[in-house]
Amino acid sequence: MDRQRVLILDLGGQYDLLIARRIRECGVFCELRPYSISLSEIRAFDPIGIILTGGPESVLAADAPLLDPAVFSLGIPVLGICYGLQLMARELGGQVVRGGSEYGKAAARYDDACPLFRDLPASGVVWMSHRDSVVDPPAGFTAAARTDACPTAAMYDPDKKLYGVQFHPEVSHTGYGTRMLRNFLYTVCGAVGDWTMSDHRQRTVQELRQRIGQGRVLLGLSGGVDSSVCAALLSEAVGTRLTCVFVDHGLLRKDEGDQIEALFSKMDLRFLRVNAQDRFLACLAGITDPEQKRKRIGELFIRVFEEEAARLGAVDYLAQGTIYPDVVESGTGGAAVIKSHHNVGGLPDSVDFREILEPLRLLFKDEVRQLGRELGLPETLVSRQPFPGPGLAIRILGEVTAEKLERLRTADLIFREEMRRAGLEQQASQYFAVLTNLRSVGVMGDSRTYEDAVALRAVTTDDFMTADWTRLPWELLDRVSRRIVNEVSGVDRVLYDITSKPPATVEYE
Ligand code: XMP
Repeated sequence: MDRQRVLILDLGGQYDLLIARRIRECGVFCELRPYSISLSEIRAFDPIGIILTGGPESVLAADAPLLDPAVFSLGIPVLGICYGLQLMARELGGQVVRGGSEYGKAAARYDDACPLFRDLPASGVVWMSHRDSVVDPPAGFTAAARTDACPTAAMYDPDKKLYGVQFHPEVSHTGYGTRMLRNFLYTVCGAVGDWTMSDHRQRTVQELRQRIGQGRVLLGLSGGVDSSVCAALLSEAVGTRLTCVFVDHGLLRKDEGDQIEALFSKMDLRFLRVNAQDRFLACLAGITDPEQKRKRIGELFIRVFEEEAARLGAVDYLAQGTIYPDVVESGTGGAAVIKSHHNVGGLPDSVDFREILEPLRLLFKDEVRQLGRELGLPETLVSRQPFPGPGLAIRILGEVTAEKLERLRTADLIFREEMRRAGLEQQASQYFAVLTNLRSVGVMGDSRTYEDAVALRAVTTDDFMTADWTRLPWELLDRVSRRIVNEVSGVDRVLYDITSKPPATVEYE
C-alpha cells in the first residue's frame, strides 16, 4: 500500500522546515513543495492533507504569492498557517486588513468544537508573527480561537475541511501546538501514522535495488552520521556492489580513523581506506589563514577521492549523504535560497559516473539517526556530535603540525572522556577542545613554563545558527583542566569559553 503523504505548500515562511519536522514527528510523511506547483501536480502527489505555510508577504499586496483557488475545492483537507490562513480567507471571500499585528507570545482562547482544539485546555499561549489580520472569515467559516488583538486566531469550515490558524503551532512556544497538528492529521485528514523508520528502510532498500540493478556504486565515506548511514543502507541494498572510499586526512579525533575502518570492514561492502595523512599535513604547511586551510583541505580531499575512483574504474552511481534540510536550503521551496548545498560544490569532476544517488534526501537529521539505529549502527556513531569536514585543522589556531595535532587529540579525548563519565554528553550539542596559539607563563614543579593554552568549548543549540555556551559544572571543568595540564605535554593553561553565537561562532576558525 502507498504511504500516506501530506503536502506542504511553501509560501516562504521562516518555520517551513519546522512544520515538516512536526508532521513527521506525528508519524505522517510529508514533503515541502513550492506554492506555485500546478493543480495537476498537487493531484498527482495525492496528499491526505495540504498545509499552507506562513510567508513574508502581505496578502493585501499587489504581487502577493497566490494559489489557484481550486486548491480549496479539491475535497482535500487544508490547514493554512499564518499567511496561509490569510490567503485562504482572501481567496474565499473573507476580509483581511492591515493591523492587529502581534509578535511573540499571545494568550489565546479556543473553541473546542473545532477539531484542531479537541481535548486541549480552553486557553493557552500561542506564538504569533503577523502584521495583517482576518477580521471577517469567509462565508461558511467559524472563528475558533481569538487573542486580545486578533478576533480570528483560528477559523474553520468543517464541511469543506478547511482550517486556518493565525499563530504558529509548529513553534515550541505554542502550547500544545504539536497536538493541534496531530488533531488536524488524525481527526481531519484520516492519518493512520504509517511513517516509521522500519517501513522507510524496507521501501528505500527495495527502491535502491530496483534502481541500481547490477550497477556499481561509489560512496565517499567521512565517518560522519550521514555518510555512515548512507553506507549501511546501500550495503543492505546492493552489498559488495558498493565501494566506500574513506579518505583519512589525519585531522580526525583520537582513534577515529581506526574505529571507522573497524566498523565498516565488518559490513557487506568494499571498504577502502586511503591514508593520506602526510599529504594533508604537507598541503597545510605554513598555512595559517582559516579559509585557506578549508580550501586546501577541500581541494585535496576531492583530488585523493578522484585518484581512488580512477583506480577503481568507471562506476555507475556516485552516492552522497545529502539530507532534507540541504535539499530545502538549496531552494526547492518558495523561500529564497539560503545557501547552496555544500556537497554540490564538492563533487569530483573527473569521476566517471552516470547518476547521483542521494538515499537520505528526504530525511531530517534526527530521522537519519533513527534509520542508523534501525540498521544496527552503534550508538556512538549514530548520536555523534557534528564534526567539521576540515576536522582538527580549524581547531588548531595557526599552522597545523603533527605535534600540535597530537596535543589537541589528547586534550580533546580527556574532555570527551570526562563528559561521558559525568553523564553529561547530552547536555551540550557540541563540545571540543581547541589548541590556541596563545602561549603563557606557568609554574610546574619548581620550574617556570611557557607553553600553550587549550580552550574548551561547549555549546547548546537547536540549529547551530545561534548557540549559547553550556553551563557545565565547575567540578567537571576542574577535573578536565587538571587532567589536561598533567597529561598533555606542552600545555600549561586551560580556558573555558563563555561566548555565545553570535557574536562568536561555534568553531574558532
Ligand atoms: P560555526 O563555527 O560556523 O559552526 O558557528 C556551526 C556548525 O558548523 C560546523 N562547521 C563546519 N562543518 N565544515 C563543516 O563540515 C566546516 O568548514 C565547518 N565550519 C563549522 C561546526 O562544527 C558547527 O557544528
